[in-house]
Amino acid sequence: MIIDSLRQEHRNIEKLLLVLERELSVFDRGERPDYQVIHAIIAYFLVYPNAYHHPQEDMVFEKLKSCDPAAAANIGDLAAEHRSGAKRLQRVAQAVESVLSDREVLRETVHGIVRDFIEHERRHIAMEERDFFPAAVRALQPQEWAEIASKLKDRKDPLFSETVEEGFDAVRRHIFQLEQEAEAERACVTHPLPASGSAAHRC
Ligand SMILES: [Fe+2]
Repeated sequence: MIIDSLRQEHRNIEKLLLVLERELSVFDRGERPDYQVIHAIIAYFLVYPNAYHHPQEDMVFEKLKSCDPAAAANIGDLAAEHRSGAKRLQRVAQAVESVLSDREVLRETVHGIVRDFIEHERRHIAMEERDFFPAAVRALQPQEWAEIASKLKDRKDPLFSETVEEGFDAVRRHIFQLEQEAEAERACVTHPLPASGSAAHRC
């Protein structure tokens, strides 16, 4: 069911937000976060929601507007929320670039920008799951769901194919692997092995 897969996508997004939050706490401690992980997350967020997740939600929302206008009005302007998330992400990307290019930027400013993005995304997901999805499940009839499903299938755009969803899966896995490596490296720096430590352990 479409709502189930949208919920599953939210779980994936939340996991990436957790990884970003962890890197932010490394930055907050005055240490160097793994910028490869951060760049991969930003790149993922720049593509995935706009190309895949939000268009599906927008289709469901359009149907909700015609099936239950009052419920849709209660939810507000979903497309505007999505645009505001994209703007916040843009600010994150710019802040990270400023840090990496040694431009004058306060740590608190960078912290605030990244924190703002994370919190906005979490609030947005929570709102969709609390208000939007249940309203859609209540209002849309099997006919409407079938229409949305067929539109998704009919899209010629390769971004809407299963292959692409698998591609995003691969990127997610790559990000988690990078994060595990970064964590392992940080553990080594914090608790280095004595010189006589096992040669198999590569800190
Ligand atoms: Fe969503």
